[in-house]
Amino acid sequence: MPDRIPLVAGNWKMNGLRADGIALARDIAARAAAPHRCDLLVCPPATLLAAVGAALAGSGVALGGQDCHAAPSGAFTGSTSAEMLKDAGCSHVIVGHSERRHGLGESDSDVRAKASAAWRAGLIAIVCVGEMQAEREAGRAVAVVSSQLAGSVPEGATADRLVVAYEPVWAIGTGLTPTTADIVEMHAAIRGRIPAGARILYGGSVNPRNAAEILALPEVGGALVGGASLKAEDFWAIAAACG
Ligand code: 13P
Repeated sequence: MPDRIPLVAGNWKMNGLRADGIALARDIAARAAAPHRCDLLVCPPATLLAAVGAALAGSGVALGGQDCHAAPSGAFTGSTSAEMLKDAGCSHVIVGHSERRHGLGESDSDVRAKASAAWRAGLIAIVCVGEMQAEREAGRAVAVVSSQLAGSVPEGATADRLVVAYEPVWAIGTGLTPTTADIVEMHAAIRGRIPAGARILYGGSVNPRNAAEILALPEVGGALVGGASLKAEDFWAIAAACG
């Protein structure tokens, strides 16, 4: 399979009220009119999907959800199904983010069910994996991530509907990043466990200063960006770092 261009995805997390979210999306859409060498994705909070989708219309910037429920509909107060995300204009959904695995107790099998739901709805699942600091210090990072992949990626994965995001938990929102050697080692390990051609994103304190170096590493097929995706200038600088 030919190499895909990188994917630079912004995970806005629980940030953004209507006016700010629309302004940010409009700014990103305007910048995306310039030539760029990556695919772009924005994942706003569920309350802003419609408004951000409208602001991005025609820009080529894709829209994604940050999580979904495994069921298509039903008595699940507060949850959003993959079908609802699709209906709202999403092409992607993040599942298994560490803030849900470690913050809200989601298991590998929960994440697997959500990825299956994404595929059922016709969405691309961005399955997040990543070790805790103590696990890395104990030399278990690759084993932990391999086990997460085995438990979280459903049967039937293809390069067209699976993206894996490697996000070391200790690198999220901390300004810390693994060494480039550690990123290369982990991405190579992930590559051996997922379909050829599926993108592997790196996430965790990606910013305009470190993006070019990280994005140039072997098997790094893009970035999942948190904090720096909330400023159009920084998000665009990361996109522009794709060589
Ligand atoms: P930061 O870029 O803020 O470290 O967040 C990364 C992340 O969790 C993206 O999903």
